[in-house]
Amino acid sequence: MRTLIKNIKELAGVELTPRLRKQGKEMAELPSIKDAYLIVEDGLIKKFGPMSELAGEDACAPSVVDATGRLLFPSFCDSHTHIVYANSREHEFVDKIRGLSYEEIAKRGGGILNSAKATAAASEDELYDMARQRLDDVMRMGVGAIEIKSGYGLSTESELKLLRVIRRLKETSPMTIKSNFLGAHGIPMEYRGHQEDYVDLVINEMIPLVAKEGLADFIDVFCDQGFFTVEDTARILEAGIKYGMRPKIHANEMAVSGGVQVGVKYGAISVDHLEQMGDAEIECLKGTETMPTVLPGCAFFLNLPLSPARKMIDAGLPVAMASDYNPGTSPSGNMQLVLSMACIRYRLTPEEAFNATTLNTAYAMGVSDILGSIAVGKKANFYLTKPIPSYEYMPYAYGENKVERIFLNGEEVK
Ligand code: NIG
Ligand code: FE
Repeated sequence: MRTLIKNIKELAGVELTPRLRKQGKEMAELPSIKDAYLIVEDGLIKKFGPMSELAGEDACAPSVVDATGRLLFPSFCDSHTHIVYANSREHEFVDKIRGLSYEEIAKRGGGILNSAKATAAASEDELYDMARQRLDDVMRMGVGAIEIKSGYGLSTESELKLLRVIRRLKETSPMTIKSNFLGAHGIPMEYRGHQEDYVDLVINEMIPLVAKEGLADFIDVFCDQGFFTVEDTARILEAGIKYGMRPKIHANEMAVSGGVQVGVKYGAISVDHLEQMGDAEIECLKGTETMPTVLPGCAFFLNLPLSPARKMIDAGLPVAMASDYNPGTSPSGNMQLVLSMACIRYRLTPEEAFNATTLNTAYAMGVSDILGSIAVGKKANFYLTKPIPSYEYMPYAYGENKVERIFLNGEEVK
Protein backbone atom coordinates (compact mmCIF):
# COMPACT_ATOMS: atom_id res chain seq x y z
CA MET A 1 0.00 0.00 0.00
CA ARG A 2 1.39 3.39 -1.03
CA THR A 3 0.12 6.73 0.28
CA LEU A 4 1.16 10.20 -0.81
CA ILE A 5 0.75 13.11 1.61
CA LYS A 6 1.02 16.27 -0.48
CA ASN A 7 1.00 20.05 0.04
CA ILE A 8 2.34 19.72 3.59
CA LYS A 9 2.79 23.27 4.85
CA GLU A 10 5.91 22.18 6.76
CA LEU A 11 7.41 18.73 7.20
CA ALA A 12 9.25 18.93 10.51
CA GLY A 13 11.87 16.74 12.15
CA VAL A 14 13.38 15.32 8.95
CA GLU A 15 16.72 13.56 8.98
CA LEU A 16 18.81 12.76 5.93
CA THR A 17 21.48 11.05 8.02
CA PRO A 18 19.59 9.57 10.95
CA ARG A 19 21.14 9.74 14.39
CA LEU A 20 20.14 7.60 17.33
CA ARG A 21 19.88 10.64 19.60
CA LYS A 22 20.78 14.32 19.70
CA GLN A 23 22.89 15.88 22.42
CA GLY A 24 24.13 19.31 23.46
CA LYS A 25 24.05 21.79 20.57
CA GLU A 26 22.64 19.17 18.17
CA MET A 27 19.38 19.40 20.06
CA ALA A 28 18.81 22.85 18.55
CA GLU A 29 18.62 21.31 15.07
CA LEU A 30 15.17 20.45 13.76
CA PRO A 31 15.47 20.37 9.96
CA SER A 32 12.23 20.87 8.10
CA ILE A 33 10.95 21.26 4.54
CA LYS A 34 8.30 23.84 3.66
CA ASP A 35 5.63 22.95 1.06
CA ALA A 36 6.57 19.28 1.11
CA TYR A 37 5.38 15.80 0.21
CA LEU A 38 5.91 12.46 1.92
CA ILE A 39 5.40 8.97 0.52
CA VAL A 40 4.61 5.97 2.70
CA GLU A 41 4.90 2.40 1.48
CA ASP A 42 4.20 -0.80 3.40
CA GLY A 43 4.10 1.04 6.70
CA LEU A 44 7.44 2.77 6.24
CA ILE A 45 8.59 6.23 5.13
CA LYS A 46 9.67 5.75 1.51
CA LYS A 47 10.54 9.23 0.31
CA PHE A 48 10.00 12.93 1.02
CA GLY A 49 10.98 16.31 -0.37
CA PRO A 50 9.71 19.66 -1.60
CA MET A 51 6.52 19.68 -3.70
CA SER A 52 8.51 21.25 -6.54
CA GLU A 53 10.36 17.91 -6.89
CA LEU A 54 7.30 15.64 -6.81
CA ALA A 55 7.11 14.08 -10.26
CA GLY A 56 6.45 10.92 -12.29
CA GLU A 57 4.83 7.92 -10.62
CA ASP A 58 5.48 9.44 -7.16
CA ALA A 59 2.81 12.03 -7.95
CA CYS A 60 0.03 9.46 -8.47
CA ALA A 61 -0.18 7.10 -5.50
CA PRO A 62 -3.31 4.95 -5.02
CA SER A 63 -4.10 6.91 -1.87
CA VAL A 64 -3.54 10.67 -1.67
CA VAL A 65 -3.94 12.97 1.34
CA ASP A 66 -4.01 16.72 0.75
CA ALA A 67 -2.40 18.38 3.79
CA THR A 68 -2.80 22.00 2.71
CA GLY A 69 -2.33 24.30 5.73
CA ARG A 70 -1.20 21.42 7.98
CA LEU A 71 2.19 20.63 9.45
CA LEU A 72 3.48 17.07 9.69
CA PHE A 73 5.49 15.87 12.71
CA PRO A 74 6.94 12.53 13.74
CA SER A 75 4.73 11.07 16.48
CA PHE A 76 5.70 11.75 20.05
CA CYS A 77 7.45 8.87 21.80
CA ASP A 78 6.54 8.66 25.47
CA SER A 79 9.36 6.74 27.09
CA HIS A 80 8.07 6.70 30.68
CA THR A 81 4.52 5.78 31.71
CA HIS A 82 2.65 3.72 34.28
CA ILE A 83 -0.76 3.44 32.58
CA VAL A 84 -1.82 0.04 33.92
CA TYR A 85 -3.57 0.88 37.19
CA ALA A 86 -7.05 0.68 38.65
CA ASN A 87 -7.82 3.82 40.58
CA SER A 88 -7.37 7.55 40.37
CA ARG A 89 -5.96 9.27 43.48
CA GLU A 90 -7.63 12.67 43.67
CA HIS A 91 -8.08 12.40 47.46
CA GLU A 92 -4.31 12.38 47.92
CA PHE A 93 -4.15 15.31 45.51
CA VAL A 94 -6.31 17.23 47.97
CA ASP A 95 -4.17 16.03 50.92
CA LYS A 96 -1.16 17.47 49.12
CA ILE A 97 -2.89 20.81 48.61
CA ARG A 98 -3.57 20.82 52.35
CA GLY A 99 0.14 20.40 53.05
CA LEU A 100 1.11 16.72 53.12
CA SER A 101 4.17 15.78 51.05
CA TYR A 102 4.34 12.89 48.59
CA GLU A 103 6.76 11.11 50.94
CA GLU A 104 4.49 11.58 53.97
CA ILE A 105 1.54 10.09 52.09
CA ALA A 106 3.70 7.14 51.01
CA LYS A 107 4.94 6.57 54.58
CA ARG A 108 1.42 6.15 55.93
CA GLY A 109 0.62 3.52 53.29
CA GLY A 110 -0.97 5.77 50.67
CA GLY A 111 0.52 6.60 47.30
CA ILE A 112 1.81 3.64 45.33
CA LEU A 113 0.44 1.18 47.93
CA ASN A 114 -3.01 2.73 47.58
CA SER A 115 -2.93 2.03 43.83
CA ALA A 116 -1.46 -1.43 44.40
CA LYS A 117 -4.42 -2.39 46.59
CA ALA A 118 -7.00 -1.31 44.03
CA THR A 119 -5.01 -2.83 41.18
CA ALA A 120 -4.74 -6.20 42.97
CA ALA A 121 -8.54 -6.29 43.23
CA ALA A 122 -9.07 -5.64 39.51
CA SER A 123 -9.16 -8.42 36.92
CA GLU A 124 -6.79 -8.62 33.99
CA ASP A 125 -9.65 -7.77 31.63
CA GLU A 126 -10.67 -4.72 33.66
CA LEU A 127 -7.09 -3.47 33.78
CA TYR A 128 -6.73 -4.03 30.06
CA ASP A 129 -9.88 -2.01 29.30
CA MET A 130 -8.79 0.90 31.49
CA ALA A 131 -5.24 0.96 30.12
CA ARG A 132 -6.49 0.62 26.54
CA GLN A 133 -8.69 3.68 27.01
CA ARG A 134 -5.70 5.68 28.28
CA LEU A 135 -3.58 4.43 25.41
CA ASP A 136 -6.18 5.42 22.83
CA ASP A 137 -6.58 8.84 24.44
CA VAL A 138 -2.85 9.62 24.24
CA MET A 139 -2.71 8.29 20.69
CA ARG A 140 -5.31 10.93 19.74
CA MET A 141 -2.92 13.53 21.11
CA GLY A 142 -0.06 12.44 18.89
CA VAL A 143 1.76 9.67 20.75
CA GLY A 144 2.96 6.88 18.45
CA ALA A 145 5.22 4.88 20.76
CA ILE A 146 5.06 4.33 24.48
CA GLU A 147 6.88 2.55 27.27
CA ILE A 148 4.64 1.08 29.96
CA LYS A 149 5.78 -0.06 33.40
CA SER A 150 4.34 -2.54 35.82
CA GLY A 151 4.75 -1.57 39.46
CA TYR A 152 1.24 -1.34 40.88
CA GLY A 153 1.32 -5.08 41.61
CA LEU A 154 4.04 -5.45 44.25
CA SER A 155 3.30 -9.17 44.56
CA THR A 156 4.41 -11.86 42.14
CA GLU A 157 0.87 -12.62 41.00
CA SER A 158 -0.13 -9.00 40.55
CA GLU A 159 3.08 -7.93 38.81
CA LEU A 160 2.66 -10.77 36.31
CA LYS A 161 -0.97 -9.70 35.78
CA LEU A 162 0.09 -6.15 34.94
CA LEU A 163 2.81 -7.32 32.57
CA ARG A 164 0.34 -9.62 30.80
CA VAL A 165 -1.93 -6.61 30.32
CA ILE A 166 0.99 -4.77 28.71
CA ARG A 167 1.61 -7.78 26.47
CA ARG A 168 -2.03 -7.67 25.34
CA LEU A 169 -1.72 -3.95 24.63
CA LYS A 170 1.36 -4.70 22.52
CA GLU A 171 -0.59 -7.32 20.57
CA THR A 172 -3.69 -5.25 19.97
CA SER A 173 -2.65 -1.60 19.64
CA PRO A 174 -1.15 -0.04 16.50
CA MET A 175 1.28 1.84 18.73
CA THR A 176 4.85 0.65 19.31
CA ILE A 177 4.99 -0.47 22.94
CA LYS A 178 7.86 -1.47 25.23
CA SER A 179 7.33 -3.04 28.64
CA ASN A 180 9.26 -2.35 31.80
CA PHE A 181 9.21 -4.54 34.94
CA LEU A 182 9.03 -2.24 37.98
CA GLY A 183 8.50 -4.75 40.79
CA ALA A 184 10.65 -2.47 42.98
CA HIS A 185 8.28 0.50 42.84
CA GLY A 186 7.15 0.61 46.47
CA ILE A 187 7.83 -1.32 49.65
CA PRO A 188 4.73 -3.29 50.71
CA MET A 189 3.68 -2.61 54.34
CA GLU A 190 4.54 -6.15 55.48
CA TYR A 191 8.15 -5.62 54.36
CA ARG A 192 8.69 -2.30 56.13
CA GLY A 193 11.83 -2.49 58.28
CA HIS A 194 13.22 -5.43 56.32
CA GLN A 195 12.87 -4.34 52.73
CA GLU A 196 15.81 -6.50 51.68
CA ASP A 197 13.40 -9.44 51.93
CA TYR A 198 11.15 -7.79 49.34
CA VAL A 199 14.21 -7.19 47.17
CA ASP A 200 14.97 -10.93 47.51
CA LEU A 201 11.43 -11.71 46.34
CA VAL A 202 11.85 -9.46 43.31
CA ILE A 203 15.18 -11.10 42.47
CA ASN A 204 14.52 -14.73 43.26
CA GLU A 205 10.88 -15.12 42.31
CA MET A 206 9.57 -12.28 40.17
CA ILE A 207 12.44 -11.71 37.73
CA PRO A 208 12.79 -15.40 36.71
CA LEU A 209 9.02 -15.71 36.13
CA VAL A 210 8.82 -12.43 34.21
CA ALA A 211 11.73 -13.61 32.05
CA LYS A 212 10.22 -17.06 31.53
CA GLU A 213 7.16 -15.50 29.90
CA GLY A 214 9.28 -12.90 28.08
CA LEU A 215 7.17 -10.14 29.60
CA ALA A 216 9.69 -7.31 30.03
CA ASP A 217 12.04 -5.40 27.76
CA PHE A 218 13.43 -3.34 30.63
CA ILE A 219 13.94 -3.49 34.39
CA ASP A 220 13.22 -0.51 36.63
CA VAL A 221 13.72 0.42 40.29
CA PHE A 222 12.48 3.47 42.19
CA CYS A 223 15.91 4.35 43.60
CA ASP A 224 15.29 7.21 45.98
CA GLN A 225 15.14 8.42 49.53
CA GLY A 226 12.37 6.53 51.36
CA PHE A 227 12.15 3.89 48.63
CA PHE A 228 14.89 1.56 47.32
CA THR A 229 18.54 2.11 48.20
CA VAL A 230 21.49 2.16 45.83
CA GLU A 231 22.44 -1.31 47.14
CA ASP A 232 18.91 -2.67 46.52
CA THR A 233 19.01 -1.13 43.06
CA ALA A 234 22.38 -2.64 42.16
CA ARG A 235 21.21 -6.12 43.20
CA ILE A 236 17.98 -5.88 41.22
CA LEU A 237 19.64 -4.47 38.11
CA GLU A 238 22.28 -7.21 38.15
CA ALA A 239 19.57 -9.86 38.37
CA GLY A 240 17.53 -8.27 35.56
CA ILE A 241 20.56 -7.93 33.29
CA LYS A 242 21.26 -11.66 33.69
CA TYR A 243 17.82 -12.28 32.21
CA GLY A 244 18.32 -9.85 29.33
CA MET A 245 16.38 -6.88 30.74
CA ARG A 246 18.16 -3.56 30.25
CA PRO A 247 17.98 -1.13 33.17
CA LYS A 248 15.88 2.01 32.86
CA ILE A 249 15.36 3.53 36.27
CA HIS A 250 13.71 6.16 38.48
CA ALA A 251 16.41 8.28 40.10
CA ASN A 252 16.91 11.51 42.03
CA GLU A 253 13.30 12.62 42.40
CA MET A 254 13.34 13.14 46.18
CA ALA A 255 17.08 13.42 46.85
CA VAL A 256 20.55 13.20 45.35
CA SER A 257 20.23 9.48 45.90
CA GLY A 258 23.12 7.95 43.99
CA GLY A 259 20.53 6.73 41.49
CA VAL A 260 22.20 8.39 38.51
CA GLN A 261 25.55 6.79 39.34
CA VAL A 262 24.13 3.31 39.86
CA GLY A 263 22.11 3.61 36.63
CA VAL A 264 25.17 4.65 34.64
CA LYS A 265 27.26 1.88 36.26
CA TYR A 266 24.80 -0.75 35.04
CA GLY A 267 24.45 0.74 31.55
CA ALA A 268 20.89 2.02 32.01
CA ILE A 269 19.31 3.14 28.75
CA SER A 270 17.82 6.03 30.71
CA VAL A 271 17.73 7.54 34.19
CA ASP A 272 14.47 9.36 34.79
CA HIS A 273 13.13 12.22 36.99
CA LEU A 274 16.41 13.98 37.93
CA GLU A 275 14.84 16.80 39.92
CA GLN A 276 17.80 16.55 42.32
CA MET A 277 21.01 16.86 40.34
CA GLY A 278 24.42 18.07 41.43
CA ASP A 279 27.40 18.75 39.19
CA ALA A 280 28.70 15.25 39.96
CA GLU A 281 25.56 13.71 38.42
CA ILE A 282 25.93 15.80 35.26
CA GLU A 283 29.62 14.84 35.01
CA CYS A 284 28.79 11.20 35.55
CA LEU A 285 26.37 11.16 32.58
CA LYS A 286 28.91 12.60 30.13
CA GLY A 287 30.20 10.19 27.50
CA THR A 288 27.73 7.46 28.50
CA GLU A 289 24.95 5.66 26.64
CA THR A 290 22.42 6.70 29.31
CA MET A 291 19.68 9.17 28.36
CA PRO A 292 18.84 11.70 31.11
CA THR A 293 15.05 11.88 31.07
CA VAL A 294 13.04 14.68 32.64
CA LEU A 295 9.36 14.31 33.57
CA PRO A 296 7.82 17.82 33.54
CA GLY A 297 4.30 16.63 34.44
CA CYS A 298 5.48 15.09 37.70
CA ALA A 299 7.43 18.17 38.78
CA PHE A 300 4.40 20.31 37.89
CA PHE A 301 1.91 18.11 39.73
CA LEU A 302 4.04 17.70 42.88
CA ASN A 303 5.46 21.23 42.80
CA LEU A 304 8.99 19.84 42.78
CA PRO A 305 12.11 21.81 41.96
CA LEU A 306 12.79 21.64 38.24
CA SER A 307 15.41 19.33 36.81
CA PRO A 308 18.32 21.36 35.36
CA ALA A 309 17.54 20.36 31.77
CA ARG A 310 18.95 23.59 30.31
CA LYS A 311 22.18 23.12 32.22
CA MET A 312 22.45 19.50 31.07
CA ILE A 313 22.04 20.45 27.40
CA ASP A 314 24.52 23.32 27.79
CA ALA A 315 26.96 20.79 29.28
CA GLY A 316 26.68 18.78 26.07
CA LEU A 317 24.29 16.08 27.31
CA PRO A 318 21.21 14.80 25.52
CA VAL A 319 17.88 15.30 27.30
CA ALA A 320 14.60 13.44 26.79
CA MET A 321 11.23 14.50 28.20
CA ALA A 322 8.38 12.06 28.87
CA SER A 323 4.98 12.22 30.56
CA ASP A 324 5.30 9.83 33.55
CA TYR A 325 1.54 9.22 33.10
CA ASN A 326 0.45 7.64 36.42
CA PRO A 327 -2.28 8.17 39.03
CA GLY A 328 -0.05 9.58 41.78
CA THR A 329 2.35 12.10 40.33
CA SER A 330 1.25 12.86 36.78
CA PRO A 331 -2.31 11.93 35.84
CA SER A 332 -1.85 13.00 32.23
CA GLY A 333 -0.13 11.54 29.19
CA ASN A 334 -0.47 14.70 27.16
CA MET A 335 2.87 15.01 25.35
CA GLN A 336 1.78 18.28 23.71
CA LEU A 337 1.67 19.72 27.21
CA VAL A 338 5.09 18.20 27.98
CA LEU A 339 6.37 19.97 24.84
CA SER A 340 4.98 23.28 26.12
CA MET A 341 6.38 22.77 29.61
CA ALA A 342 9.80 21.94 28.12
CA CYS A 343 9.85 25.44 26.62
CA ILE A 344 8.01 27.42 29.28
CA ARG A 345 9.40 25.92 32.47
CA TYR A 346 12.75 24.45 31.39
CA ARG A 347 13.72 27.09 28.78
CA LEU A 348 14.27 24.67 25.92
CA THR A 349 13.79 26.16 22.48
CA PRO A 350 10.94 24.64 20.44
CA GLU A 351 13.51 22.70 18.38
CA GLU A 352 15.14 21.28 21.51
CA ALA A 353 11.73 20.44 22.96
CA PHE A 354 10.68 18.52 19.83
CA ASN A 355 13.92 16.53 19.88
CA ALA A 356 13.47 15.87 23.61
CA THR A 357 9.97 14.41 23.06
CA THR A 358 10.55 12.48 19.82
CA LEU A 359 14.03 11.26 18.90
CA ASN A 360 15.53 11.30 22.39
CA THR A 361 12.53 9.61 24.00
CA ALA A 362 12.64 7.05 21.17
CA TYR A 363 16.27 6.43 22.18
CA ALA A 364 15.23 6.13 25.85
CA MET A 365 12.93 3.24 24.93
CA GLY A 366 15.32 1.61 22.48
CA VAL A 367 13.47 2.41 19.24
CA SER A 368 15.27 5.44 17.79
CA ASP A 369 16.54 3.33 14.88
CA ILE A 370 12.94 2.94 13.68
CA LEU A 371 11.06 5.92 15.18
CA GLY A 372 11.45 9.48 16.48
CA SER A 373 12.06 11.40 13.24
CA ILE A 374 11.06 11.58 9.60
CA ALA A 375 13.71 9.50 7.84
CA VAL A 376 13.59 7.08 4.93
CA GLY A 377 13.06 3.52 6.16
CA LYS A 378 11.64 4.52 9.54
CA LYS A 379 8.15 3.49 10.63
CA ALA A 380 5.51 5.82 9.21
CA ASN A 381 4.25 7.04 12.60
CA PHE A 382 3.35 10.72 12.34
CA TYR A 383 0.53 13.21 12.69
CA LEU A 384 -0.88 16.11 10.75
CA THR A 385 -1.79 19.20 12.73
CA LYS A 386 -4.91 21.30 12.41
CA PRO A 387 -4.23 24.39 10.28
CA ILE A 388 -1.63 26.25 12.39
CA PRO A 389 0.76 29.09 11.54
CA SER A 390 4.16 27.57 12.40
CA TYR A 391 5.87 24.77 14.33
CA GLU A 392 6.57 27.14 17.21
CA TYR A 393 2.79 27.35 17.64
CA MET A 394 2.82 23.74 18.92
CA PRO A 395 4.50 24.49 22.28
CA TYR A 396 3.12 28.03 22.36
CA ALA A 397 -0.60 27.16 22.29
CA TYR A 398 -0.51 25.02 25.42
CA GLY A 399 -3.54 23.07 26.54
CA GLU A 400 -5.19 22.80 23.15
CA ASN A 401 -5.07 19.62 21.02
CA LYS A 402 -3.39 20.66 17.78
CA VAL A 403 -3.37 17.13 16.30
CA GLU A 404 -5.92 16.47 13.54
CA ARG A 405 -5.02 13.23 11.72
CA ILE A 406 -2.89 10.34 12.96
CA PHE A 407 -0.94 7.79 10.94
CA LEU A 408 0.62 4.74 12.56
CA ASN A 409 2.50 2.14 10.52
CA GLY A 410 1.44 4.18 7.50
CA GLU A 411 -2.28 3.67 8.16
CA GLU A 412 -4.57 6.47 9.20
CA VAL A 413 -6.08 5.83 12.63
CA LYS A 414 -9.68 6.98 12.50
O1 NIG B 1 7.33 8.12 38.42
N1 NIG B 1 8.34 7.99 41.36
C1 NIG B 1 7.88 6.85 41.31
N2 NIG B 1 6.84 6.41 40.62
C2 NIG B 1 5.88 7.22 39.98
C3 NIG B 1 4.81 7.62 40.91
C4 NIG B 1 3.94 6.54 41.26
C5 NIG B 1 2.77 6.89 42.10
O2 NIG B 1 2.80 7.79 42.95
O3 NIG B 1 1.77 6.20 41.89
C6 NIG B 1 6.57 8.39 39.32
O4 NIG B 1 6.39 9.53 39.69
FE1 FE C 1 7.53 7.09 36.89
